[in-house]
Amino acid sequence: MIARFDLAPLDGITKRVFRRVWHARFGGADRCFIPFLSPTDQHILTPRDRREVENPEGLPQVPQIMAKRAEDFVWAAETLADMGYGEVNLNLGCPSGTVTAKGKGSGLLADPDRLDRFLDGVFSRAPVPVSVKTRLGYQQPEEFPRLLEIFNRYPIACLTIHPRVRPEKYRGQVHLDSFALAMAESKNPVCYNGDLVSVPGVRALESRFSNLGAAMIGRGAIADPALFRRLRGGPAATREELRTFTEELYQAYQDFYGQAAPASQRMKEVWFYLIHLFEGGERLGGRMRRSRGPRAYEELEAQIFQELALLDEPLGELV
Ligand SMILES: Cc1cc2nc3c(=O)[nH]c(=O)nc-3n(C[C@H](O)[C@H](O)[C@H](O)COP(=O)(O)O)c2cc1C
Repeated sequence: MIARFDLAPLDGITKRVFRRVWHARFGGADRCFIPFLSPTDQHILTPRDRREVENPEGLPQVPQIMAKRAEDFVWAAETLADMGYGEVNLNLGCPSGTVTAKGKGSGLLADPDRLDRFLDGVFSRAPVPVSVKTRLGYQQPEEFPRLLEIFNRYPIACLTIHPRVRPEKYRGQVHLDSFALAMAESKNPVCYNGDLVSVPGVRALESRFSNLGAAMIGRGAIADPALFRRLRGGPAATREELRTFTEELYQAYQDFYGQAAPASQRMKEVWFYLIHLFEGGERLGGRMRRSRGPRAYEELEAQIFQELALLDEPLGELV
């Protein structure tokens, strides 16, 4: 039985403004992961990073760090520990070419010996528990047994596994057989992440892995903002709730940016997933994606709420 549900970090989406509004309106996640900070060797927390990790609302959050040098990771972990964080997360999953070219994110998985040295540096000096978010490998799932052996040498607070390899990004079938290996052989607690978008989907995972204690959900929780609540037996989102949520979020983005154009851009990124909760949403969703400017966005959103019926579960692939 899955006892803990985490909100995945989605850079550009689940940033501070989103987390605050979503948590107040729906929430239900035990922890919200903050999209990665990427410290440079200057060891300076930029004003943007600081804004992201400040937490006056007291949300249950775990910040994520992406680094390739242990000393940069440890510096960021110390800074975050000083701000009151009790856990930090290491990003070993990011598939972006600009990130992996620098040997960060899933780029660290390409050289297991280097990864081992990096983890040694991190775990010998980190001031707070460190959890890890990883893929199965850099190129192919066959790399995973070796990586798991390395992970097993360190006291990882939780090993969150997205069972895909880097070229697969976030599409295609997840490799559940490799995830099963982690369930059987990980010495550290394991959390599953990938493609959970509905209550039945989560229940199916639970019946396949009865010892699984934690799951992390990203896109599914944007497509259905009440998913965590429903997983705990609560009601589905109503149309009114969703309308209030999107209005409040749009307003919060406008307050944050001081203008409507970037706020509407952010909202379109949320709607990229949320539209799947509306019956026959492809047409208006596509129009919204292609639209320009806040006025067009506002009109299309009003039309979606006016014309489309709500589904029980998000429909289609959230890619
Ligand atoms: C737009 C976008 C941004 C993401 N940003 C991050 C990030 O900052 N850190 C991270 O570890 N994973 C990031 N991910 C990966 C997600 O956390 C998650 O692993 C992935 O979406 C699969 O889970 P899901 O199917 O529940 O969404 C991102 C994914 C997407 C689609």
